[in-house]
Amino acid sequence: MFQLYGLLGEQINDDTLAVCRTTYQKFSLPFMINEVAMKLKLNENDTLLELGCGTGTLLFPLSLKVKSVVGIDHIGMIDRLRKSPIMDNCTLLDGNWLEDKFVLPPVNKILIYSVIHYMKSMEEAFVFISKALDSLKPGGMMLIGDIPNMDKKQRFNTSDIGRRFQEQWNKERQKFRTEEEIKRDEYLSGVTKRNDENSLTYGQDEEVLSFDFTDEMIAQTILYIRKLGNEAYLLPQDKSLPFGYTRDDLLIIKG
Ligand SMILES: C[S@@+](CC[C@H](N)C(=O)[O-])C[C@H]1O[C@@H](n2cnc3c(N)ncnc32)[C@H](O)[C@@H]1O
Repeated sequence: MFQLYGLLGEQINDDTLAVCRTTYQKFSLPFMINEVAMKLKLNENDTLLELGCGTGTLLFPLSLKVKSVVGIDHIGMIDRLRKSPIMDNCTLLDGNWLEDKFVLPPVNKILIYSVIHYMKSMEEAFVFISKALDSLKPGGMMLIGDIPNMDKKQRFNTSDIGRRFQEQWNKERQKFRTEEEIKRDEYLSGVTKRNDENSLTYGQDEEVLSFDFTDEMIAQTILYIRKLGNEAYLLPQDKSLPFGYTRDDLLIIKG
């Protein structure tokens, strides 16, 4: 999905659509920014690293709250961000966090938001997380946010409130849908294939582009991080967030 995001960064004008959210979800973005700042306890002494910063939805507003921020993503996304004026405390680096070498001073806060499920497997997600932990100072905090959890989604979708929410959401989403969103969805449905049975999304040559976590996989991730000598906690999302009912957040404190 990393490569596909590079293309979306180059070709989709709207910042929300280029990171695969819907136009309707724009209303939720201020809540998302506040919640991330609160969960990471961001303050003016912090050095923040955002892995997979996309179109800067979080990176730019959060740069106002911290001492310095580094955003890393595909060159298609980073070149897009470089075209707009940026704050002096903001550094942009292009590359693949899984594969490339970055020379970075350790930071005391890391954000990985709506990114970790775009790995090919849990093993790859663990490599991504462990490399991130290497860049975090002892006592530093890391938020792995917006993790899709298919068990949580299933519980929600089969509840009364979930069914009502879904009906309302489908209606509202249509109301705000733009031409660019329709074109993006047509493009994505041509180059990706979702298999709801195993909750995997595949690309054209059958490679896995993303996967949903289960309750068990979330628990395994907490165990993995704790076994490395860190603290890890599962946090709920505020219901006003783009996927507040069906996603989980993990907060890590480096040991
Ligand atoms: C859904 S977007 C989220 C963007 C941003 N964090 C937000 O919440 O608005 C996922 C982003 O993760 C980036 N990403 C995925 N895999 C990555 C990797 N291996 N290294 C760096 N960035 C990655 C994608 O390029 C994409 O921009």
